Amino acid sequence: MPRPRRTADISSTTTWSPDSWQDRPAAQQPDWPDAHALQSVLAELQGLPPLVFAGEARSLKASLAKAGEGKAFILQAGDCAEAFGDFSADSIRDKLKIILQMAVVLTYASGLPVVKVGRIAGQFAKPRTSPNERLGDKELPSFRGHAVNDNAFEEGSRRADPERLVRAYHQAAATLNLVRAFTKGGYADLTQLHTWNQEFVAASKQGRRYETIARQIDQALRFMTACGIDLSSDAAVHQVDFYTSHEALLLGYEQALTRQDSLTGDWYCCSAHMLWVGERTRQSDGAHVEFLSGVENPVACKLGPTATAEEVIALCDRLDPEKEPGRLTFITRMGSARLGEALPELLRAVEVSGRQVAWVCDPMHANTFTTASGLKTRRFDDILAEIKTFFAVHKQEGTSPGGVHLELTHEDVTECLGGAEQVLDDHLKDRYRALCDPRLNARQSLDLAFDIGEMLQTR
Ligand code: PEP
Ligand code: CO
Repeated sequence: MPRPRRTADISSTTTWSPDSWQDRPAAQQPDWPDAHALQSVLAELQGLPPLVFAGEARSLKASLAKAGEGKAFILQAGDCAEAFGDFSADSIRDKLKIILQMAVVLTYASGLPVVKVGRIAGQFAKPRTSPNERLGDKELPSFRGHAVNDNAFEEGSRRADPERLVRAYHQAAATLNLVRAFTKGGYADLTQLHTWNQEFVAASKQGRRYETIARQIDQALRFMTACGIDLSSDAAVHQVDFYTSHEALLLGYEQALTRQDSLTGDWYCCSAHMLWVGERTRQSDGAHVEFLSGVENPVACKLGPTATAEEVIALCDRLDPEKEPGRLTFITRMGSARLGEALPELLRAVEVSGRQVAWVCDPMHANTFTTASGLKTRRFDDILAEIKTFFAVHKQEGTSPGGVHLELTHEDVTECLGGAEQVLDDHLKDRYRALCDPRLNARQSLDLAFDIGEMLQTR
């Protein structure tokens, strides 16, 4: 028999089930025009294989518990929204490359294991501030991610189509298949570090700095081999554990991929290893929190600038009633100006509650603004400033900065301003390819990894 997860306060009298979220208000759900078609797609998804396995989610939980204790550092990164049109072996490989490069920089600087979690293989649904988008005198439903509708500003494109859920599932499956092949099949081997430096990065200052580290690691590996240490059979040298995550927004989809673990009888949402609830859907009595409260995966919750200590404790009670290390991660996204003032109270409230959560800094989502030319962007300096404040507050409070959550791409895009190579206002339109939020390009990402590495070193 499945072990019902004990949930506190509001639902203490009800038992969780994969569909118990349906009794609660669910924010940010698309208007599916054809309820019948949706039901038939969800039934199809329910019959398809799980994308991840319970045992993998449990290993991630153990690693996140280490990050909560300050003995590991989380690097959660990827696109704001994955695209149906950006789906090739090269693109998946290059997305991995930049995250692996950053992880090497962070590990080398900090001496800590880096927990690698992609916003990948399932990040296809977006919450929106406004249900409609206006362009000139035309108004259409907002783009909600490729699992729901298309980004083109045309009436037909913006119609929510449930068939897209099936396509999202298959793209996630194929992406995950390649991620597993690349990370377990030799590509992520520590002797391959040089091949991760992409051409347009290699010539830059950050690229050269990365090469220096890669050479030093080579040398250390050669030294160990010369000392008679047999590295050839050590999986840690040849393979990488890489986990997937996305916002658990479309609850019908997530429910359809929720399965009972044959070993423990527990429920796992098998669409990704880790799932998070977003800033717009984190109501502790809402449908999203209800759904995540009952699956055994590690779960995360975004906390925006208005989050109060009471809300945070209510979320802890709902999502982590058993006070299990590694179960709950809080991803703060307060903005560089607000974080210093807002974070201490939340850290103290969680400390007093006797829990160990992992605190992760998302320095992207509250530092977004629109330029005069109408493009959404973020300043590299604001991103860096929010991370610096995050480290400073944790130091002051005696708690651990558990990791960072970034929107980035391997591509040479011009979506965020600044960085060592100075993307300026006028450059933004040159290679602005974001479907949703602006991402750091590969050089900016590597640049940031060196800065975070220094913060970890002097921690
Ligand atoms: C996101 O991570 O893309 C997102 C929408 O974040 P938030 O819920 O923090 O606004
Ligand atoms: Co985003």
